Amino acid sequence: MSERSILIDGIGSLFDGDTEHHDAALVMQGETIAWTGPSSQAPDADERVDAGGRCVIPGFVDSHAHLVFAGDRTAEFNARMSGQSYTAGGIRTTVAATRTAGDAELATRAAALVAEMAAQGTTTVEIKSGYGLTVEDERRSLEIATSLTDETTFLGAHVVPADTDPDTYVRTVTGEMLRACAPYAKWVDVFCERGAFDEDQTREILQAGIKAGLLPRVHANQLTEGPGVRIAVELDAASADHCTHLSDADVDALASSGTVATLLPGAEFSTRSPYPDARRLIDAGVTVAIATDCNPGSSFTSSMPFCVALAVREMGMTPLEAVRAATRGGARALRRDDVGRLAPGARADVVLLDAPSYVHLAYRPGVPLVHTVWRGGERTA
Ligand code: NIG
Ligand code: FE
Repeated sequence: MSERSILIDGIGSLFDGDTEHHDAALVMQGETIAWTGPSSQAPDADERVDAGGRCVIPGFVDSHAHLVFAGDRTAEFNARMSGQSYTAGGIRTTVAATRTAGDAELATRAAALVAEMAAQGTTTVEIKSGYGLTVEDERRSLEIATSLTDETTFLGAHVVPADTDPDTYVRTVTGEMLRACAPYAKWVDVFCERGAFDEDQTREILQAGIKAGLLPRVHANQLTEGPGVRIAVELDAASADHCTHLSDADVDALASSGTVATLLPGAEFSTRSPYPDARRLIDAGVTVAIATDCNPGSSFTSSMPFCVALAVREMGMTPLEAVRAATRGGARALRRDDVGRLAPGARADVVLLDAPSYVHLAYRPGVPLVHTVWRGGERTA
């Protein structure tokens, strides 16, 4: 074959997105994975990398991030850590800063966050708009997002902007704003929450997005036990994100649906809130993903390893479940089968850890364990 091949040999532990294999090897050919199997049967390749007994995992799939913004909310975080509680209203601070920033500044900042993510093993990232909240500011946010990822999400319904009538705003979001944004977006999302959008508004906006050819996902049940999860399941959304406050009916609905529960422990960490109960969801048969929710207000981390460690320590997940949720789970939350797993035919998104096992991601929290990253067969870190 003409495409250059790379063999990673001497892998002590290969986690393929689902299970672990010892003494393994992997071959990338061009952009895809061509072969995985026992080290003893490894074929020849153009280039050979000796893993030296270390661990290999799929690149992380960060299925929830808000990277197009300007400004800083250090003061708000500091106030929270002195006892104030988080509200959706803080979003408006970032909206004001984002509107006054130039395109180049927004693009540079978003690209820097994507690079930060790549250095920590993320090879697929979803990027939302939602800090513009005017037709043009949402459109340009998504235009910037499309230069960084295929997984772009229209979140004009993040919060009703200051001094705006909610009904008028919903009309704009479902009309002119959606028309301007749809060409740049794959997904439509709504922050369904007290202080943001209610049940009727959420359903109306998601249905308008679906009509425009976008696929639904929902910010659901983050701060209160609202209708978000129910609507997500009703509309066959790929994912209901946050899922912090769930009724038994919500858990049952998720379990019998194709909707992934995406848990965002960085948000509970940074808002000092109770964590979602991943154990309850997994035991009920719900597919769970973990993502960073990287944003300047509620979760300013770009680190999937950090979120994996939090999920294990604070959400009742085993290390295996957490790493699975951060790879295969994220892929399922984006309805993708070509990423989040290491098997022939998948994209060659491969992370070599400076550790003998994926367990170290939780066992050695805060330690930079990512040694080498390939995305589509190309070294990115
Ligand atoms: O996912 N929940 C809504 N959106 C973000 C928070 C955004 C902000 O506070 O700026 C989130 O946590
Ligand atoms: Fe979010």
